[in-house]
Amino acid sequence: MSTNYNRYTVTAALPYANGPKHIGHLAGAYIPADVYVRYLRLTGKDVIFVCGSDEHGTAIPNQALKENTTPKAIIDKYDALIRDCFGKLGMSFDIYHRTSEPIHHQTSQEIFLTLYNKGLLTEEVSEQYFDAEAKVFLADRYIVGTCPKCGHTNAYGDQCEKCGSTLSPRELINPRSTLSGKTPELKETKHWYLPLEKYEPWLRDWILKSHQQDWKPNVYGQCKSWIEAGLQPRAMTRDLEWGIKVPLPDAEGKVLYVWFDAPIGYISATRALFDETASGKLKFATPRRDFSNVKKDDWKKYWQADDTRLIHFIGKDNIVFHCIIFPVMLHASGEFIVPDNVPANEFMNLEGDKMSTSRGWSIEMHEYLADFPDKPDVLRYALLTNLPEAKDSEFTWKDFQAKNNNELVAILGNFVNRAVVLTQKYFDNNVPERNALTAVDQKALDELKSYPAIIATSIEAFRFREATANLMDLARVGNKYLAETEPWKLAKTDMSRVGTILNVALQIAASLAIVTEPFLPFTSRKLKEMLSVADLSWSDAGNADLLKAGSKLNDAPLLFEKIEDAVIESQIKKLMETKQAVEIAQQPVVPAKAEISFDDFSKMDIRIGKILKAERVEKSKKLLKLQVDTGIDVRTVMSGIAEHFAPEDVVGKQVTILVNLAPRKIMGVESQGMILMASDKDGSLKLLSPSVEVGPGSQVS
Ligand code: MF3
Ligand code: ZN
Repeated sequence: MSTNYNRYTVTAALPYANGPKHIGHLAGAYIPADVYVRYLRLTGKDVIFVCGSDEHGTAIPNQALKENTTPKAIIDKYDALIRDCFGKLGMSFDIYHRTSEPIHHQTSQEIFLTLYNKGLLTEEVSEQYFDAEAKVFLADRYIVGTCPKCGHTNAYGDQCEKCGSTLSPRELINPRSTLSGKTPELKETKHWYLPLEKYEPWLRDWILKSHQQDWKPNVYGQCKSWIEAGLQPRAMTRDLEWGIKVPLPDAEGKVLYVWFDAPIGYISATRALFDETASGKLKFATPRRDFSNVKKDDWKKYWQADDTRLIHFIGKDNIVFHCIIFPVMLHASGEFIVPDNVPANEFMNLEGDKMSTSRGWSIEMHEYLADFPDKPDVLRYALLTNLPEAKDSEFTWKDFQAKNNNELVAILGNFVNRAVVLTQKYFDNNVPERNALTAVDQKALDELKSYPAIIATSIEAFRFREATANLMDLARVGNKYLAETEPWKLAKTDMSRVGTILNVALQIAASLAIVTEPFLPFTSRKLKEMLSVADLSWSDAGNADLLKAGSKLNDAPLLFEKIEDAVIESQIKKLMETKQAVEIAQQPVVPAKAEISFDDFSKMDIRIGKILKAERVEKSKKLLKLQVDTGIDVRTVMSGIAEHFAPEDVVGKQVTILVNLAPRKIMGVESQGMILMASDKDGSLKLLSPSVEVGPGSQVS
């Protein structure tokens, strides 16, 4: 392990392009990664930041089935959506690539072949569940059955969600395919395995010995328990249509396991970054620094040189892949470095419940951006102050509002605004001279000087919550300084003193323009424009002479605006409504009734009739009293639809009516028949009208 690093390769987990991503994903990996990289850049480090869409695995064709389209259409749609949101939220990737790109297929196949040719993959024929109807081998998640440990009848092939046991599909009692519902059969199939157990000594040495101090306890602990539980060979191929073909002659219909190819995506993205920048043809790359002298092959330094520090930012569900499996692949291939750190985060919950897109309990990035298009930094801040770094955390809309109103507006925004507006007012937008310093001034300048190092220490230790708190504390120093010195009161008596105070305050604001950049890049940009500060580096922050006396400030737009209660309430309402809609959509349909004979059916006389008159029934919330022209006669029907229709909604409508139902007295009125209705899962009722108007009395059969 080298500690003298000369460059950094920073990765953020490649999101599955099978759906939109929510703010929990941002808090897990992307925001911390972006802060870290922006900080490294400001300190002048040679760093690349790579990410991209993960476009393989069963999740993609599965989503295509749901949306009744092709896997290709799915990845194109969600790659574009995720890419767009990341851009709007300020994720400063040097490249956001795609695993469907040819260069990634090629890189993955090369690494597979390297391992294969070195004889490091074991080949094994095993019996696996096959769905004869869907004609596919079933991934573990597509098999359900009874848990052998607790008897739960809907356990998955890899895990029982009731008792938490890890399972293999063969252990399930009464297995069923989720695709066809049929019992799957066992069929022989050949796969290539990575024998993880052979690398146990290396893993013990590399992780358990060398990284006990510097890896986060949650990450280290998970690795330790994996290693201690005994590592098993793991199949690196799958029987699947969608994916990267296994580059061997006898591997028809087989693709690389998605967790084999996806992390290689970091390497392919790096290759693409250098290909594109060297050739000047940018497609996925958005280089954040000067790449003008790079060569195609320079990517190798970022993955193969010992003086490169590789850091993976991920969520906790990705730990074993980034700390065990991928490093074993990299190490075994003999060509690559392994990560120096994997600062994985825990999960962020939402308003007291687990965040989940499929359950409708989430805030999707694109939804946030649609509702708050000019507030990417507010989200960044609300997430940063609440990152699930040591344990699961919780996002609430109330907290979001409080962070905006009480901190961004009331502290940071207020401080900067006061300093700039007072300069406008008293000095015509010119930075005033700094004259003799009092103890209060000196104290403020000393504090200013100390903060950049404090913030940096937290960032370098991957404690981004703490770093964000430190950042806001620097704004507090400024606010407190103005509150103590009260320059607005001195304006009449001592302009020279006012000048000194505002000079000091503006120097603090100028440093804030620098140190906010990793956290709040959009705000930092505005601040720099307001103060006419150039793009300085981190080491300039804390300097008391960033702004020269006499230099001109620009106009001061408000950095942040208050978020009103009504806005927050409508977000909470929207969340509840989405969840309810999903719950309704997911309710099972009412099971079929017992079979009846044709005779039973033909006893019913069903007609199309027209509602001539409708009125509410006194003392009944549910009933409408209807006059219906059945073609045979005009009759009275009492119908329990008053909660769904106003009388005027139904008058004149053609409806379906059972005319030979024996008359019944309802609320003292004889009801002569029954109007047929469709009742939806949410209990709402719809009239059954013919698609075009038909003659009254038309028979329904
Ligand atoms: N797509 C995975 C997920 O969302 C993450 C892949 S990370 C990579 O959980 F390393 F494999 F790329
Ligand atoms: Zn169980």
